[in-house]
Amino acid sequence: MSLDKVLAKIDADLDQSVNRLLDLLRIPSISTDPAYKSDCARAADWLVEDLKTLGFDASSRPTPGHPMVVAHGGTGERHLLFYGHYDVQPVDPLDLWDRDPFDPEVQDTAKGRVIRGRGSADDKGQLMTFIEACRAWKAVHGSLPGKLTIFLEGEEESGSPSLIPFMQDNAAELKADIALICDTGMFEDTTPAIVTMLRGLLGEEITVYGPDKDLHSGMYGGAAINPIRVLTKILGNLHDETGRVTVPHFYDGVQELPDAIRAQWQALAFDHAKFLGDVGLSVPAGEQDRTPLEMLWSRPTAEINGIWGGYTGQGFKTVLPAEAHAKISFRLVAGQDPDVLRGHFRAWVQEQLPADCRVEFHGHGNGPAGVMSVEAPAFDAARAALGEEWGKPAAFVGCGGSIPIAGYFKTYLDMDAMLIGFGRDDDQIHSPNEKYDLECFQKGIRSWARVLAKLV
Ligand code: BES
Ligand code: ZN
Repeated sequence: MSLDKVLAKIDADLDQSVNRLLDLLRIPSISTDPAYKSDCARAADWLVEDLKTLGFDASSRPTPGHPMVVAHGGTGERHLLFYGHYDVQPVDPLDLWDRDPFDPEVQDTAKGRVIRGRGSADDKGQLMTFIEACRAWKAVHGSLPGKLTIFLEGEEESGSPSLIPFMQDNAAELKADIALICDTGMFEDTTPAIVTMLRGLLGEEITVYGPDKDLHSGMYGGAAINPIRVLTKILGNLHDETGRVTVPHFYDGVQELPDAIRAQWQALAFDHAKFLGDVGLSVPAGEQDRTPLEMLWSRPTAEINGIWGGYTGQGFKTVLPAEAHAKISFRLVAGQDPDVLRGHFRAWVQEQLPADCRVEFHGHGNGPAGVMSVEAPAFDAARAALGEEWGKPAAFVGCGGSIPIAGYFKTYLDMDAMLIGFGRDDDQIHSPNEKYDLECFQKGIRSWARVLAKLV
């Protein structure tokens, strides 16, 4: 059977596949930091060249930000589009890495072999699972697995600012029957998963200003307002004692989980004690009347991602600072409009400002939650294919993280999207020492070969 030949080819060529991934991982394509602009372009070019070797008509397309990679190839009835992102998160704090984040290697660990390096799991390793599946397919069949468009973005980690205009300007070219996205994870290490809902994201940076210069905290402390005190008091009010977000109208439009999905999630028997235990925690800290999976997948949240001000250097300095800063993000669910919520949040902050203080807001990327329709026949086919590879039925799961494009396919191109990924919770994406399990890379490639065999 020809699928068996493709699977055997994948296994036989695994070392070369890993080496290609290591090459891509060496390019520090950090999208959020302008210092790495040319590296982002280099990563796009690397992918274009690699896709050309597979017979794709591939090009790097400029945008006001980092380029998009678009490639077309193959022939067939059904037109599949694959999406991944070649940009990666910043590496700081660098001193917590055990090696240079952009000098990747395969390592033996107590839990098996891993590919270590920034972007190994998020998302270069994952996007290469699809490309490697195409490569093995082509080697066996002499042609690509059907009519394919590959669409790779370089700004996902910075909120995909160029994506909507690019999708609108190139709608006819990008329109396909279904989008496949490889940027998510498995369920509890060994259960393959198809994500049916993802949370959206709203980012806000706030600066509270008080006195017009830094002051001596002995000379002025007591009489002068301290912006850090004001900021921390406001941020301390973000949640009530039950874990609910207190910003007025925050929960407007948020629906209860449909019974059918609640039952599916219950059947997953999520081990939240292990999930939290693996990161040194024990008690779910979200809304106390919600299950842990609801907290992670179907409820909106507010998180303080960074907070700074005053003196934080070596030693001690008795300063009463002129300003205080924080970065805050909200994970959103269906029914919440990011722009409306931004307004409510800003009004809520303003109302709490005492005399002599003012606040400035700087908005960061935002995108609504994504809800996938699982009606398309491709979902059943993919579920079966994943089950055959992993020896367990694939779970329909939620994803607490955000992938802006997931919802845009429906909105802008009227296409369904199917999210299948092979990451594990301990991959340390966005953190020091990011890794991708070699097993996930190999079985991820094999999974795509099986999915493609059912879809073409
Ligand atoms: N691959 C992640 C999304 C993800 C996170 C999937 C966790 C599965 C588990 C994606 O690259 C990501 O990190 N997205 C950002 C989006 C943001 C910067 C707009 C996120 O979720 O923070
Ligand atoms: Zn990602």
